[in-house]
Amino acid sequence: MRPIIPDYLAEVLGDVEPDTSGEPAGYIPELATADTKYLGAAFAMLDGEVYGAGDIDIEFTIQSISKPFVYALALSDRGFDSVVAKVGVEPSGEAFNEISLESGTGRPLNPMINAGAITVHSLAGAEDLDPAGRVERVLRGLSAFAGRRLKMDEAVYASEIEHAHRNLAIAHMLRSHDILTGDARTVVDGYTRQCSVLVTARDLAMMAATLANRGMNPLSGEQVVPEAVVRQVLSVMFSCGMYDAAGDWGTQVGIPAKSGVAGGLIGALPGQVGIATFSPRLDVHGNSVRGVSLFERFSSDMGLHVM
Ligand code: DON
Repeated sequence: MRPIIPDYLAEVLGDVEPDTSGEPAGYIPELATADTKYLGAAFAMLDGEVYGAGDIDIEFTIQSISKPFVYALALSDRGFDSVVAKVGVEPSGEAFNEISLESGTGRPLNPMINAGAITVHSLAGAEDLDPAGRVERVLRGLSAFAGRRLKMDEAVYASEIEHAHRNLAIAHMLRSHDILTGDARTVVDGYTRQCSVLVTARDLAMMAATLANRGMNPLSGEQVVPEAVVRQVLSVMFSCGMYDAAGDWGTQVGIPAKSGVAGGLIGALPGQVGIATFSPRLDVHGNSVRGVSLFERFSSDMGLHVM
């Protein structure tokens, strides 16, 4: 890491640090006990250089930030037509854990909400994979985006699956519409494992940089998914990545983004940079409070809004 930019990052981190509003996710008991002091930000450039400040090497679970990446894997494994037939691309304007199915078809409105992401998990890898094989496909794919082998947090997985009533209800709705064709509980189990993959802000910045770099990991040089897939993923992140705060985010920050309930937040600027922040306290939408503030600052200080 080189200096200069970290000085700027440290300054912005210092500015948002006193904000102790929000709470860590309470509905996953293991996340409720998160250390709320953590605060970090990392920028991964497309030449592989990472600039960071604060807690960028602390591991936490990826949660919903897995959704755009697994959407990318499903699109490249199964093709656009079969994925879009099952999951739409329209903002829901509702919370991430609302049912949000298209009336009539039962198709989830988009892949960033839980209903869409549970469906997308079932579309990762070849159709005939067994559940463990599908989880392995997801873990391998997320690892390729990060450029290192990732692992799962078994305690967070166990804690979430024990209380997964809402996701199970959504999955049973999806099964009743034949959007899911396999066993609903098995898909929720795999999706919950997907959400429990451990990452750092440094990893997330590199994963975002892989999207910004049109699908090629800047460090490994691996083309993880095709460029056309990345365009689809970033477009959906722009309109749906921040859930029912996507409009505010789009106007004020203007960067394709995705949040997770463990406190991570990523932004990917095509051809420029991957950005990630980590701070566990969340706002009412389930987005990191200080993460949103950091992105607002980065966007206005550096003119990062895509418009
Ligand atoms: O399915 C869930 O509810 C969690 N595993 C993930 C939700 C999430 O990260 C929402 N994002 N802010």
